[in-house]
Amino acid sequence: MKAIFFISFFSTYLFSQIIDNSFITKFEYGAMLYANPRGVGCVLCHKNGDKSVIIAKYKKKDKKTKKLVEKEIIAPAINKVSFEVFLDKMTSDKTESRIMPTYFLTDDELKSLYFYIKNIKKK
Ligand code: HEC
Repeated sequence: MKAIFFISFFSTYLFSQIIDNSFITKFEYGAMLYANPRGVGCVLCHKNGDKSVIIAKYKKKDKKTKKLVEKEIIAPAINKVSFEVFLDKMTSDKTESRIMPTYFLTDDELKSLYFYIKNIKKK
């Protein structure tokens, strides 16, 4: 029992050391979170993050004209958002479109993730 406690404590310590000592950089850590933020990866909808992405197209009947109109669901470019907008989106449990999932990231994780998306280069 003691050993298990010790091992888990030690690996937590080791992991925090790895991040602090920049074995992996903040950018790499952010990139990791972007792909796997304990939930649906940002990359699946936002792709590289530097341009808007059409994630779905559908047809909807217009209430007035009764005609079918093409609609699109767009994941916007996110490499230019302010930290306020980012934080607001990442901490709200329902986004306006109800498409983006809810995430539960720590402050440090959010900072690294934001650092990453701000440094995505437009190709
Ligand atoms: C299932 C698709 C999907 C996933 C996965 C997703 N997003 Fe989004 N995201 C959207 C859509 C759609 C919008 C625009 C509508 C809205 O605000 O809900 C959006 C909006 C945003 C915005 C606001 C942009 C603006 O200009 O207001 C930010 C920032 C953002 N996403 C970041 C992220 C990050 C970071 C992740 C991963 C942790 C992520 N998203 C995962 C679909 C997704």
